[in-house]
Amino acid sequence: MDVTSKRSATTPLDASAVHATAPGRVEFIGNHTDYNGGWVLGATIDRRVEVVLRRRTDRGVRLESEASLPSLELDLDRVERQSGEQAWANYVLGMVEVLRTEGLELPEGFDLWVESTLPVGAGLSSSAALELATGAALSTAYGGGFTRAELARLARRAENEFVGVPCGLLDQAVVAMGGADRLVRLDARTEETSAVSFPSETGLWIFRTHQAHALSDSGYQERFDEARAARDRLRELLGPGEAEHLVDVTPAQLEAVQADLPERLYRRARHVVTEHRRAERVVELLEAGEREAVGQLLFESHESSRVDYENSTEALDFVVDRLKEQEGVLGARLTGAGFGGAAMAWTRAGYGNAEAQNVVNAYADRFGAELETLACQPASGLNVEG
Ligand code: GLA
Repeated sequence: MDVTSKRSATTPLDASAVHATAPGRVEFIGNHTDYNGGWVLGATIDRRVEVVLRRRTDRGVRLESEASLPSLELDLDRVERQSGEQAWANYVLGMVEVLRTEGLELPEGFDLWVESTLPVGAGLSSSAALELATGAALSTAYGGGFTRAELARLARRAENEFVGVPCGLLDQAVVAMGGADRLVRLDARTEETSAVSFPSETGLWIFRTHQAHALSDSGYQERFDEARAARDRLRELLGPGEAEHLVDVTPAQLEAVQADLPERLYRRARHVVTEHRRAERVVELLEAGEREAVGQLLFESHESSRVDYENSTEALDFVVDRLKEQEGVLGARLTGAGFGGAAMAWTRAGYGNAEAQNVVNAYADRFGAELETLACQPASGLNVEG
């Protein structure tokens, strides 16, 4: 795709363009563990957001997207949070603001062109990809010298403080640190990442339900608040020094105080505590080549989300149940925030369109709606040229 040829004909341009691209991500395991100090595994996928940035000679900022999103023009000295149809620009403007608070000087404004092969609202982190592509382009164009890990943390801050979503670091860390043939392991307590080899001759499939993601914002905030409430109550029950993070509580400790926790908070805590341990176990099992056992844990993860965290939907459960019946599927689960969005399947060699189509057909019969499929491989990560 030739995005460098795209430019606004009307704005004054100076130095040459910076071109940055950032992939989407799939969450392999570690559902809602990141804001609880736990482990997560994710992979970058071969669908990307691309930006072209050109410095201007005045203080103007012009944001344009290939998608049918409204363009935006504003003054660098009056960067404000946008709403309605222009809210897509907040991921860009949020990066501008956090980079400036970290000392990046923007003596003049810029034009930014955005295009994407990454579906929006599918739970594949198009927002983190836009933040990271923008951050890398700004850092390069204005000489910031930020590392990938720094950009990931700043992108999360942009999302928390400017966009207003209380997300953890998963999306931004995977988008920034992912690459071909590997999974990214994030330890959210230390914010350190490492690479785990993606097993050869296996694939990732995304099944996108197209269900309204609208619930996800309020649902996400609600789960975040419940996880904090569970942690605070567990601190009281277990005593000083315990439960710095929710994942520090062991399953045995949790069982011991079950009667003293409201039932809902008990289940939220049980999901986080067991999911963190599943993610740890998956890393060990991947290193030992135990594919079947890893797949089993992916199914268990979905079950825990469904029953304890209640962030699945009937449509996602249906897709995971159908995938479970297929010989070529090692494991499957909802991926990302939940409340709609997508399920992912980890598949053996040979799993292809015919098998995926069977799930699509069953979904159409059951819901009278289209299930979109994307075949993926862990793909190259954040890239910037200019
Ligand atoms: C969304 C958030 C992440 C993470 C997942 C759930 O993708 O952005 O930080 O919490 O949901 O694991």
